[in-house]
Amino acid sequence: MNAISKTSLDLTRIRADFPILAEKIRGKDLVFLDSAASAQKPRVVIDAMVHAMEHQYANIHRGLHWMSERTTEAYEETRDSVARLMNAPDRRNIVFTRNSTEAFNLVALSYGRSVLQPGQAVVISEMEHHANIVPWQMLRDATGIELRIAPITDAGEIDMLAYEAMLADGRVGLVSITHMSNVLGTYTPAQRIIEIAHRNGAKVMLDGSQSIVHRRIDVQALDVDFFAWTGHKLYGPTGIGVLYAKAELLERMPPVMGGGDMISTVTYQNSTWAEVPHKFEAGTPAIIEGIGLNAAIKYVESIGYDAIAAHEAALTDHALARLSVIDGLTIMGRPQDRGGVVSFTLEGAHAHDVATLLDRQGIAVRAGHHCAQPLMQRLGVDSTARASFGIYTTLAEIDVLADTLDHVRTFFK
Ligand code: ALA
Repeated sequence: MNAISKTSLDLTRIRADFPILAEKIRGKDLVFLDSAASAQKPRVVIDAMVHAMEHQYANIHRGLHWMSERTTEAYEETRDSVARLMNAPDRRNIVFTRNSTEAFNLVALSYGRSVLQPGQAVVISEMEHHANIVPWQMLRDATGIELRIAPITDAGEIDMLAYEAMLADGRVGLVSITHMSNVLGTYTPAQRIIEIAHRNGAKVMLDGSQSIVHRRIDVQALDVDFFAWTGHKLYGPTGIGVLYAKAELLERMPPVMGGGDMISTVTYQNSTWAEVPHKFEAGTPAIIEGIGLNAAIKYVESIGYDAIAAHEAALTDHALARLSVIDGLTIMGRPQDRGGVVSFTLEGAHAHDVATLLDRQGIAVRAGHHCAQPLMQRLGVDSTARASFGIYTTLAEIDVLADTLDHVRTFFK
């Protein structure tokens, strides 16, 4: 794509960092608008992982030999980078998981089962990903806690009055809410959500899977208790995610998985646990992926969140302007504060058919329920098509999407 329109980023340089963007799909330029599902990887991430495997690899935390010590240093440096990225007070606040889903399950299984009591409630919202619904349902079924669902408005924002009312009886132990909806793009008012929860005696977990990609996260300024995200959406590898939690919570929480690396001592009678965060990290972790995540974090930091957020705003404004004038196209949600995700339906066409026709032109969008079936019910649809943007997305690509959707609409007419 030569017509790279101007935004706040040097897109020619950035796009050159992502080898996959040079690929042709059915002879056409790849227009990758599915970064919210998983982002593409820059050369620095690929090189860091290959370099580790070629030159510096052994199991970590165990060896007394050079290779193991170097690999341990490289892997543990990622924990420092994650702590810096989120402004965590200490590297010990950072637990590595496989992904965000595992982070939610860890909190539900550990904090949920050991601290929350029957009669207490967990609040989620109507616009959650399944990863932030199902673990709480499983907790409810196992322990008898109550699950409350904070409603959203037709614009796709949390109904804050209803949310506040939901906490008024003081029985809510935990609020677990998305920081940015993967379907509607809504940024939730995290600061207010947390203030209200804390005032009513509840802890807060934020799903930062989407937000960490686009905005600077400061867990101390937010005063958030738990914050989950995943590496593969932040231009890093799959198989590595992050749970940030306050130190006193991690200290109180029991481990969920037992095995190697999470213990201090083991006898046949009993075992004692390793220090936080290692007591939550049983078994050989995703070593290569952890090293790749460090490269991804440094890459994002080298670009800077101010530029990334401005770029995302320009893309989103352009997408909303172009898509909203297409006859028969309905954009889901009109939140005031939104990120680079636009979901839509096209009259007379199933979202899967829209995605298939776009794919014929080399355009990749996601179609379906986006792992948010209850939200689809709330919106009164069974599926949507979704375009989502990354740091490499251009305004010209959004034009290609809009022009192609115009043709798709004519086809279905
Ligand atoms: N959670 C990812 C998405 O929204 C997979 O597509």
